[in-house]
Amino acid sequence: MVAFSTAPAARTEGIRGPSPTDLGTLAGVGEVCADIAAVRAGLAGAGYLADEATVTAVYLAEALHKPVLVEGPAGTGKTELAKAVAAMSGARLIRLQCYEGLDESRALYEWDYRKQLLHIQAGQAAFGPGHRGRGWDEVEDDLFSERFLLPRPLLEAIRAPDAVVLLVDEVDRLEVETEALLLEVLSDYQVSIPELGTVRAARVPLVFLTSNATRELSEALKRRCLYLPLDYPDVERERAIVLAKVPGASEHLAEQVARLVRSLRALDLHKPPSVSETLDWARTLVLLSIDHVDLERACDTLPLLLKHRGDLAKASASLAASGTG
Ligand SMILES: Nc1ncnc2c1ncn2[C@@H]1O[C@H](COP(=O)(O)OP(=O)(O)O)[C@@H](O)[C@H]1O
Ligand SMILES: [Mg+2]
Repeated sequence: MVAFSTAPAARTEGIRGPSPTDLGTLAGVGEVCADIAAVRAGLAGAGYLADEATVTAVYLAEALHKPVLVEGPAGTGKTELAKAVAAMSGARLIRLQCYEGLDESRALYEWDYRKQLLHIQAGQAAFGPGHRGRGWDEVEDDLFSERFLLPRPLLEAIRAPDAVVLLVDEVDRLEVETEALLLEVLSDYQVSIPELGTVRAARVPLVFLTSNATRELSEALKRRCLYLPLDYPDVERERAIVLAKVPGASEHLAEQVARLVRSLRALDLHKPPSVSETLDWARTLVLLSIDHVDLERACDTLPLLLKHRGDLAKASASLAASGTG
């Protein structure tokens, strides 16, 4: 099994109240990811068939404590890579799904206002409305303490005492300002909470950021990261992915599916089929007990691969012209 090395010591500054990140010393020992071959085997064991660039990126990310920015079209295995790395290393996967409008309170932390309010009301009920015993400082200390903190994925990953893979998924959906927040966290692996103090990482989590490249990410963020451009797999690897992921698929069917999908991707389509769609298609063919795809069956099942009318028309015409199967 591959595990991640430990990072600089966990420290907290000025934290009042209980502090789960105040570990004081280097957290644990952790098995170090030995070499590139071990990473390749680990990923394959987790059902992820990676090319050399991907294997190397994972190895370097662990060795250098650097986040990986995985960029490529939808359905090329970006999210799955982070999941596979977590699975192979026995680490916990913490996922931050990005979307437009995601803010600090969803990404980092927020205070549980309802619980704070109830706490104040409970205090008033216990002491009576005229009670003047507790000063504001005391109440504030109480309200802005650990028990009223709602950690969100970034903070959760930073202060996790165990090995963690942090997946920041579809980072290109964030507004630029929120991207800056992310950059801050990934620069120092620390989070500053005004009422509590600075929380520093107990272990540097292994971080994967994914992007569908719908917009350029900032140079500053890219500088922080190892860059891994992912594209559709070649025929050989896609064939292997089908065989690994689709129970009941024969060698012949997997080969045929991979070749057909590859030829469709070569057409000028609005949305070329992704690996997820290849798998859906192969699963459907197995379900229909089809082991050999001829022209008619290919055209009948094409909507599993292509989701735009124009693409369907183009692909059917191309298949008919090549008389394929
Ligand atoms: N290299 C790979 N090895 C195994 N499965 C893969 C690979 N690449 C893609 N897949 C499969 O394709 C599906 C889509 O991948 P996903 O990671 O969700 O795509 P993305 O995040 O790039 O949009 C996954 O469910 C996974 O099963
Ligand atoms: Mg994804």
